[in-house]
Amino acid sequence: MSTLALESPDVESTIQIGRILGKCLPRGTFVALEGVLGAGKTQFVKGIACGLDEGGWAGLRSPTFTLMLSYHGGRAVLHHIDFYRLNESPELPGEILEAIHSDRAITVVEWADIWPEVWPKNYIRVRFEVNDDTSKRRVTIEDPQGLCPEAVKELSEYAAEPAEA
Ligand SMILES: Nc1ncnc2c1ncn2[C@@H]1O[C@H](COP(=O)(O)OP(=O)(O)OP(=O)(O)O)[C@@H](O)[C@H]1O
Ligand SMILES: [Mg+2]
Repeated sequence: MSTLALESPDVESTIQIGRILGKCLPRGTFVALEGVLGAGKTQFVKGIACGLDEGGWAGLRSPTFTLMLSYHGGRAVLHHIDFYRLNESPELPGEILEAIHSDRAITVVEWADIWPEVWPKNYIRVRFEVNDDTSKRRVTIEDPQGLCPEAVKELSEYAAEPAEA
Protein backbone atom coordinates (compact mmCIF):
# COMPACT_ATOMS: atom_id res chain seq x y z
CA MET A 1 0.00 0.00 0.00
CA SER A 2 1.40 3.38 -1.04
CA THR A 3 -0.12 6.58 0.27
CA LEU A 4 1.18 10.00 -0.56
CA ALA A 5 -0.08 13.34 0.79
CA LEU A 6 0.80 16.35 -1.33
CA GLU A 7 0.07 20.01 -1.06
CA SER A 8 -1.18 21.80 -4.16
CA PRO A 9 -0.86 25.58 -3.84
CA ASP A 10 -2.75 26.40 -7.05
CA VAL A 11 -4.72 24.95 -9.95
CA GLU A 12 -1.59 24.49 -12.12
CA SER A 13 -0.04 22.26 -9.44
CA THR A 14 -3.20 20.16 -9.23
CA ILE A 15 -3.10 19.69 -13.03
CA GLN A 16 0.61 18.83 -12.83
CA ILE A 17 0.02 16.18 -10.13
CA GLY A 18 -2.72 14.67 -12.34
CA ARG A 19 -0.38 14.72 -15.33
CA ILE A 20 2.34 12.80 -13.48
CA LEU A 21 -0.23 10.17 -12.46
CA GLY A 22 -1.72 10.06 -15.99
CA LYS A 23 1.68 9.34 -17.56
CA CYS A 24 1.94 5.96 -15.84
CA LEU A 25 -1.62 4.78 -15.17
CA PRO A 26 -1.98 1.26 -16.55
CA ARG A 27 -5.00 0.32 -18.66
CA GLY A 28 -7.85 -1.07 -16.60
CA THR A 29 -7.27 1.33 -13.71
CA PHE A 30 -10.17 2.96 -11.90
CA VAL A 31 -9.31 6.34 -10.41
CA ALA A 32 -11.67 7.35 -7.59
CA LEU A 33 -11.79 11.07 -6.86
CA GLU A 34 -13.26 12.43 -3.63
CA GLY A 35 -13.71 15.98 -2.40
CA VAL A 36 -16.34 18.69 -2.02
CA LEU A 37 -17.77 20.88 -4.82
CA GLY A 38 -14.98 22.96 -6.33
CA ALA A 39 -12.22 20.94 -4.67
CA GLY A 40 -10.32 20.51 -7.95
CA LYS A 41 -11.39 17.06 -9.19
CA THR A 42 -12.16 18.15 -12.77
CA GLN A 43 -8.90 20.12 -12.96
CA PHE A 44 -7.06 17.00 -11.83
CA VAL A 45 -8.73 14.97 -14.62
CA LYS A 46 -7.42 17.54 -17.12
CA GLY A 47 -3.97 16.69 -15.80
CA ILE A 48 -4.58 12.94 -16.18
CA ALA A 49 -5.76 13.50 -19.79
CA CYS A 50 -2.65 15.56 -20.45
CA GLY A 51 -0.46 12.75 -19.09
CA LEU A 52 -2.19 10.26 -21.39
CA ASP A 53 -1.97 12.55 -24.40
CA GLU A 54 0.25 15.61 -24.21
CA GLY A 55 -1.85 18.62 -25.23
CA GLY A 56 -5.04 16.60 -25.35
CA TRP A 57 -6.66 18.02 -22.26
CA ALA A 58 -7.54 21.51 -23.49
CA GLY A 59 -11.14 20.64 -24.39
CA LEU A 60 -11.92 18.55 -21.34
CA ARG A 61 -15.27 19.49 -19.80
CA SER A 62 -17.03 18.47 -16.63
CA PRO A 63 -19.36 15.48 -17.11
CA THR A 64 -21.79 16.72 -14.45
CA PHE A 65 -24.62 16.99 -16.98
CA THR A 66 -23.71 14.07 -19.26
CA LEU A 67 -22.72 11.32 -16.76
CA MET A 68 -19.79 10.15 -18.92
CA LEU A 69 -17.40 11.72 -21.43
CA SER A 70 -14.85 9.57 -23.27
CA TYR A 71 -11.57 10.66 -24.88
CA HIS A 72 -9.88 8.57 -27.52
CA GLY A 73 -6.81 10.65 -28.42
CA GLY A 74 -4.35 9.30 -25.84
CA ARG A 75 -2.40 6.06 -25.32
CA ALA A 76 -5.55 4.62 -23.66
CA VAL A 77 -9.22 5.56 -23.78
CA LEU A 78 -10.14 7.82 -20.87
CA HIS A 79 -13.67 7.65 -19.46
CA HIS A 80 -14.58 10.59 -17.25
CA ILE A 81 -17.63 10.03 -15.05
CA ASP A 82 -19.30 12.03 -12.28
CA PHE A 83 -21.40 10.16 -9.72
CA TYR A 84 -22.82 13.36 -8.26
CA ARG A 85 -26.06 13.21 -10.25
CA LEU A 86 -26.39 9.47 -9.66
CA ASN A 87 -26.70 9.96 -5.93
CA GLU A 88 -30.43 9.20 -5.95
CA SER A 89 -30.37 6.49 -8.64
CA PRO A 90 -31.26 2.97 -7.55
CA GLU A 91 -28.54 1.56 -9.81
CA LEU A 92 -25.85 2.65 -12.24
CA PRO A 93 -26.53 2.62 -16.01
CA GLY A 94 -24.98 -0.34 -17.87
CA GLU A 95 -22.58 1.78 -19.94
CA ILE A 96 -21.14 3.27 -16.75
CA LEU A 97 -20.67 -0.17 -15.18
CA GLU A 98 -19.01 -1.35 -18.39
CA ALA A 99 -16.58 1.56 -18.32
CA ILE A 100 -15.78 0.94 -14.66
CA HIS A 101 -14.96 -2.71 -15.33
CA SER A 102 -13.12 -2.17 -18.60
CA ASP A 103 -9.68 -3.75 -18.59
CA ARG A 104 -8.52 -1.60 -21.53
CA ALA A 105 -9.64 1.90 -20.61
CA ILE A 106 -8.74 4.21 -17.75
CA THR A 107 -11.85 5.32 -15.89
CA VAL A 108 -11.83 8.35 -13.64
CA VAL A 109 -14.83 9.05 -11.42
CA GLU A 110 -15.63 12.26 -9.56
CA TRP A 111 -17.63 11.79 -6.34
CA ALA A 112 -16.61 8.11 -6.44
CA ASP A 113 -17.42 7.70 -2.73
CA ILE A 114 -21.17 7.89 -3.55
CA TRP A 115 -20.99 4.30 -4.92
CA PRO A 116 -18.06 2.60 -3.14
CA GLU A 117 -19.60 -0.83 -3.79
CA VAL A 118 -18.90 -0.62 -7.53
CA TRP A 119 -15.16 0.10 -7.22
CA PRO A 120 -13.12 -2.62 -8.89
CA LYS A 121 -10.00 -4.06 -7.22
CA ASN A 122 -7.65 -2.04 -9.44
CA TYR A 123 -8.34 1.36 -8.00
CA ILE A 124 -6.34 4.42 -7.11
CA ARG A 125 -8.03 6.77 -4.67
CA VAL A 126 -7.38 10.51 -4.69
CA ARG A 127 -8.84 12.73 -2.00
CA PHE A 128 -8.93 16.54 -2.17
CA GLU A 129 -9.19 18.61 0.98
CA VAL A 130 -9.90 22.31 0.68
CA ASN A 131 -8.42 25.02 2.82
CA ASP A 132 -11.20 27.62 3.14
CA ASP A 133 -8.91 30.62 3.39
CA THR A 134 -6.49 29.92 0.53
CA SER A 135 -6.35 28.15 -2.81
CA LYS A 136 -4.31 25.33 -1.24
CA ARG A 137 -5.55 21.77 -1.64
CA ARG A 138 -4.28 18.74 0.19
CA VAL A 139 -4.17 15.88 -2.31
CA THR A 140 -3.88 12.38 -0.85
CA ILE A 141 -3.18 9.57 -3.29
CA GLU A 142 -3.65 5.94 -2.25
CA ASP A 143 -2.41 3.14 -4.48
CA PRO A 144 -3.23 0.00 -2.49
CA GLN A 145 -2.36 -2.42 -5.31
CA GLY A 146 0.91 -0.72 -6.28
CA LEU A 147 -0.38 0.03 -9.79
CA CYS A 148 1.72 3.16 -10.30
CA PRO A 149 5.05 2.94 -8.47
CA GLU A 150 6.73 5.32 -10.97
CA ALA A 151 4.15 8.03 -10.29
CA VAL A 152 4.42 7.57 -6.53
CA LYS A 153 8.19 7.97 -6.84
CA GLU A 154 7.99 10.99 -9.13
CA LEU A 155 5.32 12.63 -6.97
CA SER A 156 7.41 12.15 -3.82
CA GLU A 157 10.14 14.12 -5.57
CA TYR A 158 7.57 16.67 -6.79
CA ALA A 159 6.36 17.13 -3.21
CA ALA A 160 9.90 17.70 -2.01
CA GLU A 161 10.56 20.17 -4.79
CA PRO A 162 7.39 21.99 -5.97
CA ALA A 163 7.24 22.71 -9.71
CA GLU A 164 8.30 26.11 -10.96
CA ALA A 165 5.37 28.32 -11.86
N1 LIG B 1 -5.00 24.26 -5.71
C1 LIG B 1 -6.06 24.19 -6.52
N2 LIG B 1 -6.32 23.04 -7.17
C2 LIG B 1 -7.40 22.92 -7.98
N3 LIG B 1 -8.28 23.89 -8.24
C3 LIG B 1 -8.07 25.08 -7.64
C4 LIG B 1 -6.95 25.27 -6.77
N4 LIG B 1 -6.99 26.55 -6.31
C5 LIG B 1 -8.08 27.11 -6.87
N5 LIG B 1 -8.73 26.24 -7.68
C6 LIG B 1 -9.98 26.52 -8.41
O1 LIG B 1 -11.01 25.71 -7.85
C7 LIG B 1 -11.89 25.26 -8.88
C8 LIG B 1 -11.91 23.74 -8.94
O2 LIG B 1 -12.91 23.37 -9.82
P1 LIG B 1 -13.20 21.89 -10.30
O3 LIG B 1 -14.25 21.99 -11.35
O4 LIG B 1 -11.95 21.18 -10.64
O5 LIG B 1 -13.81 21.26 -8.95
P2 LIG B 1 -14.53 19.86 -8.79
O6 LIG B 1 -13.91 19.23 -7.60
O7 LIG B 1 -14.51 19.11 -10.06
O8 LIG B 1 -16.02 20.30 -8.41
P3 LIG B 1 -17.41 19.54 -8.70
O9 LIG B 1 -17.65 18.61 -7.55
O10 LIG B 1 -18.40 20.67 -8.73
O11 LIG B 1 -17.32 18.81 -10.01
C9 LIG B 1 -11.40 25.87 -10.18
O12 LIG B 1 -12.11 27.06 -10.41
C10 LIG B 1 -9.93 26.16 -9.89
O13 LIG B 1 -9.43 27.24 -10.65
MG1 LIG C 1 -15.98 18.38 -11.34
